[in-house]
Amino acid sequence: MPWPLLPLLLLLLLLAASGAQTTRPCFPGCQCEVETFGLFDSFSLTRVDCSGLGPHIVPVPIPLDTAHLDLSSNRLETVNESVLAGPGYTTLSGLDLSHNLLTSLSPTAFSRLRYLESLDLSHNGLAALPAESFTSSPLSDVNLSHNRLREVSVSAFATHSQGRALHLDLSHNLLHRLLPHSSQAGRPAPTIQSLNLAWNRLRAVPDLRGLPLRYLSLDGNPLAAIGPGTFEGLAGLTHLSLGSLQGLPRLAPHGFHELQGLQVLDLSSNPRLQWAGPEVFSGLGSLQELDLSGTGLVPLPEKLLVHLPALQSISVGQGVQCRRLVREGTYPRQPGFTPKVALHCIDTQELGARGSNTL
Ligand SMILES: *[C@@H]1O[C@H](CO)[C@@H](O)[C@H](O)[C@H]1NC(C)=O
Ligand SMILES: *[C@@H]1O[C@H](CO)[C@@H](O)[C@H](O)[C@H]1NC(C)=O
Repeated sequence: MPWPLLPLLLLLLLLAASGAQTTRPCFPGCQCEVETFGLFDSFSLTRVDCSGLGPHIVPVPIPLDTAHLDLSSNRLETVNESVLAGPGYTTLSGLDLSHNLLTSLSPTAFSRLRYLESLDLSHNGLAALPAESFTSSPLSDVNLSHNRLREVSVSAFATHSQGRALHLDLSHNLLHRLLPHSSQAGRPAPTIQSLNLAWNRLRAVPDLRGLPLRYLSLDGNPLAAIGPGTFEGLAGLTHLSLGSLQGLPRLAPHGFHELQGLQVLDLSSNPRLQWAGPEVFSGLGSLQELDLSGTGLVPLPEKLLVHLPALQSISVGQGVQCRRLVREGTYPRQPGFTPKVALHCIDTQELGARGSNTL
């Protein structure tokens, strides 16, 4: 064996020896599970599960090497820094507070959790977020879905640790407004990379300029119109989901013009969506996948492909998939020859009885 492969082999051995699980003594009612990694079990992480025990469980003492603490389903009404304090808390990287009765957060509740990366606050009754709740932790995942948030400021997610991508789930709230980041707060814009705003009360696409967004879902919102300038400053967005929009959404020509980096666009389940011409999709030079199933946008207009040079496939509903087909013509190519492109649609559900139509 060539010697450079040796370190790789060792690494593989180390990985193969990972993931052994044992339980250990724990606070009464909780379960402590130790996961060891490494050839000689040289690293260990403890997961502490104190879910479903009731509000008396906090503050709960946890082992020093606790990586993840589950406090879900405990009917907790408040959390503050004295609830989340003690040895072991400082190094916690994951905290689950979902399915409680939290209606508000103390601004300093998480201030001691200097290594917290993942925070689940879903399924609570939170109506507002204090401005500085998350500044002390290097968060990469925050789940605030299924709460009662009506208005949220993007600045609430600005942390001191820059550079880490944040995945933020704000779906299933009552949001009618998302306040843009104000640089007056003295902190750089939060590094939100994916943002789930599905099933809220947003009537317009919020101003998300300055965020390094790649994934955005606005499914199920009562968006009124998408027109020029709607997605200003979001050239880095690669995935956009606008499914099941409530109300009567209108797509105006050039509405997606700013989204030069967009690769996937989902407009499915919008039966009342109407065509306003193929220019609706102008500017989407990187778009590869388009989902139009369950929309009023079929049949597809002939000029569609002119505006979507990178398009690979379109879903048009009921398992019908259209793929880009390039007819190269004869070789050698004539100077100035442009290959003919067309959409070829097949029914993926009825593979036997394949209907085919070409634009
Ligand atoms: C923190 O919350 C607990 C209940 O969850 C409460 O008993 C305690 O008084 C609170 N502490 C402070 C400093 O507010
Ligand atoms: C957030 O929590 C909800 C409900 O518990 C869950 O369905 C959803 O997948 C979570 N989101 C993320 C991004 O993990």
